[in-house]
Amino acid sequence: MSDRSGSSFALRLNTAASDEDVLSALLWGAGCRGVETRDTAGTGSVLVTGYFETREQAEYASGAVSHLARAEPEIAAIEERDWLSEHRKWAEPTRCGRFFLDPGDPEVTGSERSQIAADEGLLYLSVPAQRAFGTGSHPTTRLVLLLMQRWSRCPLRVLDVGTGTGVLSLAAARLGARQIVALEVDLLALSLARRNLARNGLAEATARLLLSRVDALAPSHDVSYDAVFVNVLPENLGPVESIVAGLARRPLGRVVVSGVPRDRESSVLERWLECGLVETARETLDDWIAFDLRWPA
Ligand SMILES: C[S@@+](CC[C@H](N)C(=O)[O-])C[C@H]1O[C@@H](n2cnc3c(N)ncnc32)[C@H](O)[C@@H]1O
Repeated sequence: MSDRSGSSFALRLNTAASDEDVLSALLWGAGCRGVETRDTAGTGSVLVTGYFETREQAEYASGAVSHLARAEPEIAAIEERDWLSEHRKWAEPTRCGRFFLDPGDPEVTGSERSQIAADEGLLYLSVPAQRAFGTGSHPTTRLVLLLMQRWSRCPLRVLDVGTGTGVLSLAAARLGARQIVALEVDLLALSLARRNLARNGLAEATARLLLSRVDALAPSHDVSYDAVFVNVLPENLGPVESIVAGLARRPLGRVVVSGVPRDRESSVLERWLECGLVETARETLDDWIAFDLRWPA
């Protein structure tokens, strides 16, 4: 596996360790192709680097995250190098309930790690670190994985809004989902998702990938879903709650909402409940919260 990064501008900034997750999510939302975080010992800060294809993107992102920076952010042109391969060498698997998510290079560590997962009785997913959000390690992803594992029966039809690298669609398929539609606005992420689905043996007949915003899809769509996953920051998603809720089957269809910073939990939840959904469960991790909502019986 030798993906080249294609990234040529690095945005570096120091932030409080407690702000790392929010910062990283904002960088992904601003179009970065990779994020690295390093501890700066004893300072309570971390050094976060986001990689961008153009200086304009890095400058835009710098403005969007400057309120989280402890010092002036720096933008530097970087030499083209295969930083993804470097990253995959040290990226550790994430265990999340029954899932074992492997961000490593499938050709280097894949068989060894899938054996470890099998020995531990876990469901192995290969999601190599790529130029899009979604190796499964981010708290917002893990929250959805945790909520879906609480269900006594896996939904057969799933809509995955903002699929990134396809990790939630893959997980749903491992649990038994039979018809999955995965939406993404970023063409690159979509092509990575396609490769991930194929790499994990998911047939195209099971999962359809669409380049679309959810509000563009809805008007012509006459299918409803047993579960809709939405792990997108509220400011990137926009006011689409009633549209998303309308895509969940009535009665009892679920909408799992993640990507919600805990300090905005009430305002975000209120908008979803106004659509008529009810909360059945919630999970929190670090500074993030996710809600499992469903249409009443
Ligand atoms: C936080 S990532 C989640 C990725 C993956 N679902 C996961 O849980 O790891 C959000 C993804 O949603 C995509 N996105 C952002 N706004 C969107 C929108 N309005 N409709 C669909 N996808 C969107 C982004 O490109 C990004 O890949």
